[in-house]
Amino acid sequence: MKKVNLAVVGATGMVGRTFLKVLEEKQLPIENFYVFASSRSAGTKIVFNGRDYVVEELTETSFDRGIDIALFSAGGGTSEKFAPIAASKGCIVIDNSSAWRMDPEVPLVVPEVNPEDIEWNKGIIANPNCSTIQAMVPLKPLDDKYKIKRVVYSTYQAVSGAGLAGWKDLENGLKGEAPKKFPHPIAGNCLPHIDVFTENGYTKEELKMINETRKILHNPDMKITATAVRVPVFNSHSESINVEFEKPFELTNLVDTLRKAPGIILKNDSCNDEYPLAIDASGTDEVYVGRIRRDESVESGVNLWVVADNIRKGAASNAVQIAEIIIKNMQ
Ligand code: A2P
Repeated sequence: MKKVNLAVVGATGMVGRTFLKVLEEKQLPIENFYVFASSRSAGTKIVFNGRDYVVEELTETSFDRGIDIALFSAGGGTSEKFAPIAASKGCIVIDNSSAWRMDPEVPLVVPEVNPEDIEWNKGIIANPNCSTIQAMVPLKPLDDKYKIKRVVYSTYQAVSGAGLAGWKDLENGLKGEAPKKFPHPIAGNCLPHIDVFTENGYTKEELKMINETRKILHNPDMKITATAVRVPVFNSHSESINVEFEKPFELTNLVDTLRKAPGIILKNDSCNDEYPLAIDASGTDEVYVGRIRRDESVESGVNLWVVADNIRKGAASNAVQIAEIIIKNMQ
């Protein structure tokens, strides 16, 4: 298998470190490996595959050395500036920020859902928002079979989604300390506020879920609404997803469709108290689906409870899966 030169930008961050972990686990064929971050951590060492790598400051010349693939998770501003520079040097950027997701020239990809979109990339591929990724994995096979008419998302999102600072707010909040990252205490609380508020009263997180779902499922008119809530859970996002379909369905067939879909583990045995849990999903790459039941208030609708590790499947693992496909296509 052809080996590639691969870089991680934002390698010292929460998602960046998970990029390294997932790359090691999946044993991607890497020839040369580079780690970039800001000037703050330049010169520090990172261990990857048993070898020490020195963190370099990201600059305009960082990609002047034949880097094939770069995984970016260093914030929107960094991606906005440096992803086009990397792409202009022949590198394919897989970007975890929201900077490029809605750009019509940039594919937005969940490998189980729309891997074909990778092909038309012009040097930048966007990794969707964590809450969107885990929703797409069960919604795609259901859309293919029953044609989705409307979706209502309600999320229960872990503090790891707000980076190390979010994690610390919960940890310290449980000891009675005041929050530094969130506007209110997260310990013992639920905050219906993720990312900033926009003019129509929705938060940016909610709009990301709505717009990204439409782009990934190639349905710009799909009716979607969302409420995104931060909850006092360290890791893994949970979501209640209410879906209305154009076509009728048999519940057993719908459950079977989800069971056979790639990337899903069903936990759907309520009689035995079995349903997806954040603590079980943490550290894994699958999307867990359960509490599958008919929405009896509409003609053809279903309720799902969907859980996944937001740092792995919701960010790092999804990006590494995209990299794997690119490498396979290079052979
Ligand atoms: P650094 O550790 O040097 O600040 P998180 O989202 O967990 O806070 O991580 C953000 C990541 O993005 C870190 O690796 C951080 O590096 C990196 N980063 C932040 N700003 C820049 C920048 N201007 N150039 C390169 N990397 C950056």
